[in-house]
Amino acid sequence: MDFIQLCNTRQSCRSYSDRPVSDEDIRTCLEAARLSPSACNSQPYHIYLCTGDAAAEVAKTTQTAGMNKFTSQAPCLLVITEDNYNATAAIGSRRKDQDYRSVDIGIAAANICLCATTLGLSTCIVGWFDEKKLAALVGTTARIRLVISLGYAAEDDKLRTKKRKSAEDLITFVK
Ligand SMILES: Cc1cc2nc3c(=O)[nH]c(=O)nc-3n(C[C@H](O)[C@H](O)[C@H](O)COP(=O)(O)O)c2cc1C
Repeated sequence: MDFIQLCNTRQSCRSYSDRPVSDEDIRTCLEAARLSPSACNSQPYHIYLCTGDAAAEVAKTTQTAGMNKFTSQAPCLLVITEDNYNATAAIGSRRKDQDYRSVDIGIAAANICLCATTLGLSTCIVGWFDEKKLAALVGTTARIRLVISLGYAAEDDKLRTKKRKSAEDLITFVK
């Protein structure tokens, strides 16, 4: 699969099967996160891998207002918290008034999701959760930025055609 095929194949999965995910595949996805680039190599995040009863409890925190019912089906939920910058990234962020941490977390999340796709797994990045309850569950005082559901898609989860802005709307060539 070339990279563009990979990008088309990765899609947000909102229907999971019962098939368990091997520890090896989970570790591979986590390794993809660990190898992600980040500003000043700061890696300002921590990942909580939630399975079993913990995943069931985490799922509930993503389901307020009728949202994200599918998270209860996913065998694994990854919770990504924001960690401190290292000294150089902190200085860079302050001097340039940039939020590198959210960028770094987004890159790690993308690596996880794309890696999962190469393994035949499916994911959904979830940004809707009860942060206080989730923080208490995983035992952190850090900000929680994302949850990622991970598992095998159910048969009804068909490949969708991507709806995206056109290249013309998205890109300006400056010469
Ligand atoms: C930061 C972020 C937060 C998201 N939060 C949710 C969410 O809470 N629930 C959900 O079903 N999808 C969520 N999504 C998935 C997006 O809806 C999805 O990526 C987008 O519609 C494009 O579809 P695709 O991922 O299938 O290509 C989120 C995606 C991102 C990047």
